[in-house]
Amino acid sequence: MTHKVAFIGLGVMGFPMAGWLSQAGHAVTVFNRTVAKAARWRETYGGTVAASAREAAGDADLVFMCVGDDPDLADTAFGEYGVLRAMRTDSILVDHTTASAGLAREIAAAGAKRGVHCLDAPVSGGQAGAEQGKLTVMVGGEAAAFARAEPVIRAYAKSVRLIGPAGSGQLTKMVNQIAIAGVVQGLAEAINFAQRAKLDVAAVIDVISKGAAQSWQMENRWDTMRQGRFDFGFAVEWMRKDLRICLQEARANGAELPLAALVDQFYADVAGMGGKRWDTSSLIARLNRHDKASP
Ligand SMILES: NC(=O)c1ccc[n+]([C@@H]2O[C@H](COP(=O)([O-])OP(=O)(O)OC[C@H]3O[C@@H](n4cnc5c(N)ncnc54)[C@H](OP(=O)(O)O)[C@@H]3O)[C@@H](O)[C@H]2O)c1
Repeated sequence: MTHKVAFIGLGVMGFPMAGWLSQAGHAVTVFNRTVAKAARWRETYGGTVAASAREAAGDADLVFMCVGDDPDLADTAFGEYGVLRAMRTDSILVDHTTASAGLAREIAAAGAKRGVHCLDAPVSGGQAGAEQGKLTVMVGGEAAAFARAEPVIRAYAKSVRLIGPAGSGQLTKMVNQIAIAGVVQGLAEAINFAQRAKLDVAAVIDVISKGAAQSWQMENRWDTMRQGRFDFGFAVEWMRKDLRICLQEARANGAELPLAALVDQFYADVAGMGGKRWDTSSLIARLNRHDKASP
């Protein structure tokens, strides 16, 4: 079954996700703040470009958002040109932004007042997952709205799961980011150590990736980390935003996150080295920073 859908935010993630919706046969209207990206999207996939998020959302059965941080999402949802002012009764708002659980609950409450069903649905799988249509989607919201949205989300996902009420998708994404932060730092330290020990890093990774040290990060990032290539999509500034959200939530629920807090400071160092838009595997650059400064 195909639908009229709107997609707001054609960044690293949103651009290919909206593309998959178009390729699945849905009638897609897009909006992007930087107009040139929307024009490029239409050249690639066809479809319609709207002048605002509000205009894109007005006629849609489902509206998708994938913007940056809480203020961007609040503006896109509630602002003068935001989607909630225009969405039809009984339509569904699916938010793929990684944002706070509190804002997800506020959006769900505001939507409910207008008869709009809201799902917070952050994703994991990175730029490659979006481009290959193989994202993991963790969802908070009502079961009935989830059942309607899930087949549409499947256009770009290999795994979609409803976790609980509004905010649960965002909380699950926080668990994901907490788990990743320490793994990436551990891998950065391991590769840096192997290099300094003058080991054959490829041989080392080949053997240890078949044992208990194996991880997605190890399999997919060891070689590019070794080479100092950090152009794989998920930006350091977004990871710092995610860790900030995790640390805020932990202050409220009493969880201790000493490792996540430390890794956040390491990402602050990377940002200070000019790495705000490097991908998150760039933690290894920080371990080499003094070498570069020395003669
Ligand atoms: N990249 C990844 O690997 C990845 C993985 C999982 C989750 N995420 C999450 O997905 C979201 C998007 O990430 P991304 O990598 O696609 O980011 P991105 O490439 O920086 O794109 C962000 C998008 O949001 C739009 N935007 C930002 N602020 C806005 C505002 N105030 N009003 C309207 N539009 C606004 C941007 O418009 P402009 O084009 O005008 O800047 C752009 O289309 C983030 O929450 C991120 O944490 C990303």
